[in-house]
Amino acid sequence: MKVFINKRIPEIGINMLQEAGLQVIFPENENITPEEWLKYCQHTDVILNVGGDFKYDKVFFDACPDIKAIALYSVGFDHVDIKEANRRNIPVGNTPDVLSRATSDVAFLLMQSVARRASYNFQKVKDGNWNSFDPLHALGQELYGKTLGIFGLGRIGFQMAEKCKKAFDMEIIYHNRHRNEEAERELGAVYVSFDELVRNSDVLSVHANFTPEHKDLFNQEVFEKMSPNAIFINTARGGFHQEQDLYKALTEGKIWGAGLDVTNPEPMSADNPILELSNVCILPHIGSATIEARNGMAKLAAENLIAFSKGEEMPNCANPEVYFQHS
Ligand code: DGY
Repeated sequence: MKVFINKRIPEIGINMLQEAGLQVIFPENENITPEEWLKYCQHTDVILNVGGDFKYDKVFFDACPDIKAIALYSVGFDHVDIKEANRRNIPVGNTPDVLSRATSDVAFLLMQSVARRASYNFQKVKDGNWNSFDPLHALGQELYGKTLGIFGLGRIGFQMAEKCKKAFDMEIIYHNRHRNEEAERELGAVYVSFDELVRNSDVLSVHANFTPEHKDLFNQEVFEKMSPNAIFINTARGGFHQEQDLYKALTEGKIWGAGLDVTNPEPMSADNPILELSNVCILPHIGSATIEARNGMAKLAAENLIAFSKGEEMPNCANPEVYFQHS
């Protein structure tokens, strides 16, 4: 069975695939165009997809009718039309859990960076503006006992909430599709409506799976309901926030600051005016960028394809319904 991998992943995953007898194909150069990507996909059986550059939708599946399975090198699967995959009986593997710690670490890092204006102060040092001690300049805020609001309390949200509870004894409120009983029991998390989440969070951190209904969910109307001392954190997907509205909220003092590991589009343009603001910290989608998480992702993606090649269910599948529809 041929596996096309559009970018190099840690060796552990490649070795596992090869040892299991799969033929691994890489593109000749790493940054292939959509046309080149499509050509590779037309000459393979299964795909190990790295990154969010390519969309797996009806147009793709029509152009590549022989694709039998996709293993994503990500937990997020917003770049796949799952309904189309289901219709064609194509399992789509993903990589949950192994990156929850690393991604929640980045949410925690952004929260503190914004609260203490770390990016702004670092830039001052780089610019040679480390002036004499000023008791009133660029003061941060402390997070002890404040309220953390989590939008999407799954695995990553849980770990963010746990860190905030342990480090700063923060109160946890959350809004989710389902109640998270473990978080309620272990962290004293309280389920609230979306409106209560927005109004009562001192830090609002987004951790949900992105779906089209979420597009621009955090917009002007929402930012206006937030506390002027609130910090908005997004490590999930850039599509969750409306960037011009966020910019406006940040410049008009509707919220205190924002920490983003995801933007829309990615990469963010270097001349984006939001980068000039003193109350933001923006990172280039590094949530899972640790050796441990990336090795774990490589292993899970390989396990998914190896299971598929043996006719077994993928151990981590974003659309397990493909298995039920035939059992
Ligand atoms: C994920 O796993 O979804 C991360 O955002 C990396 O793409």
